[in-house]
Amino acid sequence: MADSFDAIVIGGGPGGYNAAIRLGQLGLKAACVDKRGSFGGTCLNIGCIPSKALLHASERFHEAETDFAKLGIKASVQLDLPAMMAQKEKVVGELTKCVEFLFRKNKVEGIVGEAKLIAPGQIAVRGKDGSSRTLTAKHVIIATGSDVSPLPGVTIDEDQIVSSTGALSLKSVPKRMLVVGAGVIGLELGSVWKRLGSEVTVIEFLDRITPGMDLEISKAFQRVLTKQGMSFQLSTKVTGVEKKKTGLSVTVEPAQGGQKSVIETDVMMVCIGRRPCTDNLGLETVGVTLDKRGRVVTDAHYRTNVAGIYAIGDCREGAMLAHKAEDEAVACAELIAGKAGHVNYDAIPSVVYTFPEVATVGKTEEDLKAAGVQYKVGKFPFTANARAKTIMATEGFVKILADAKTDRVLGCHILGAEAGNLMAEVVLAIEFGASSEDIARTCHSHPTLTEAVRQAAMAVEGWTMQM
Ligand code: FAD
Ligand code: NAI
Repeated sequence: MADSFDAIVIGGGPGGYNAAIRLGQLGLKAACVDKRGSFGGTCLNIGCIPSKALLHASERFHEAETDFAKLGIKASVQLDLPAMMAQKEKVVGELTKCVEFLFRKNKVEGIVGEAKLIAPGQIAVRGKDGSSRTLTAKHVIIATGSDVSPLPGVTIDEDQIVSSTGALSLKSVPKRMLVVGAGVIGLELGSVWKRLGSEVTVIEFLDRITPGMDLEISKAFQRVLTKQGMSFQLSTKVTGVEKKKTGLSVTVEPAQGGQKSVIETDVMMVCIGRRPCTDNLGLETVGVTLDKRGRVVTDAHYRTNVAGIYAIGDCREGAMLAHKAEDEAVACAELIAGKAGHVNYDAIPSVVYTFPEVATVGKTEEDLKAAGVQYKVGKFPFTANARAKTIMATEGFVKILADAKTDRVLGCHILGAEAGNLMAEVVLAIEFGASSEDIARTCHSHPTLTEAVRQAAMAVEGWTMQM
């Protein structure tokens, strides 16, 4: 196989594999190098996919335990954790194989090995067996993603003290789980183990959960999770962990310092954010600039300061989301191929896949207040939605924010069942520059949860008809 390519992508996650596929579609000779051994990156191997498999399975388990009886279904339910884990692994295996299929289909060479830039356009790849290969290309895309941020003074052993990776593969249900960080991972994986039987306590440094989320939604979300039995200690930090025969003794204290206390637990999950993977890549050798947080600095066209080197996905600025990485991949590949690739960062949704889900897109009320933008709010609760009643999912509400003068949709925040799917129409509305009235006057099927989005849009102008 020739070692010279039009473009080489380092990293085979949603950023990397989508960039390579799009480059292949556009007729460029592309390669994608990943050191993991299976393509798909964090997302397919240890992130989005295994976590969603466990969220789905644990939600069904919980539903069978608690809701079936209300629906007139008598069932006796038992957990088979090894089978649940095997199903998760099966899905991961199938999807990572799909990436290999898509590489073949689009004539992309998938290469397993650790890549290092030795000069602009020149990459050394070291295989797990010690083999080495030098590749050259006019264009190199860095898509090396991110890894777990460590908690100072705490060593993750992926057994008792776990990151998300260990929390996705626990061998038994811990009686007690302490989650450090009330962000997306903490609440999703905390929900999984809560549903399977753990007592879950969440420690959060800030005075609120899910920082950055619209505050009204975030507060309602915390109330819902608390009702489900998750307990929260906000404005609190972990200052030490001691391993004992009986479990872990975790010392915590107020975030600003003060009286220490000890929490006994069986498993502690550290999920306080992720950091970019930009070490040992040879970036300093070729002179690529990183920012203070170690992220690759690029311009709006994903170009670094070194000609021919680009960066996309978690290793550059912005939300650490698979679909953000994918959109940057498409745009970057198209720009390399001489087309007009572009990403609209105002229209990137974000979803927390708990029950109920939380989905957000665009500006929060806090963003708009800070920017001095005049806005109108329309809200609609799921208690007033017919379909939500039939499926016993009446918790939460839809909130739409629109410009006070132009009525253009600026943001939407949904707490409720299927929030992630419901958000798709609002993302499209934002992409098209639609007004809230456009959504309000669009016919929505009855009875569906989507009607709650329409009613919230009607509420922007004060004519919601179902409450
Ligand atoms: P990654 O997916 O991290 O891929 C980078 C790849 O580069 C890795 O496979 C790595 O092995 C490889 N690599 C690194 N250095 C080298 C090197 N020197 N040589 C060769 N290969 C290298 N996002 C969502 O949008 N939705 C979700 O539901 C969601 N759930 C998540 C759940 C969890 C538990 C976690 C941890 C993350 C989740 N994310 C989710 C975030 C999502 O996984 C990331 O945003 C996404 O994977 C980023 O894609 P990427 O291509 O930039 O990087
Ligand atoms: P996060 O940034 O979502 O949340 C981390 C939380 O930890 C924050 O609330 C932060 O204030 C808190 N924190 C930070 N330091 C702390 C400390 N010392 N003690 C206590 N709390 C502390 O990060 P998380 O949950 O680790 O997820 C990482 C990334 O993965 C996220 O950026 C997210 O975008 C992505 N992800 C996305 C998912 C999705 O889209 N559904 C699911 C899972 C992860």
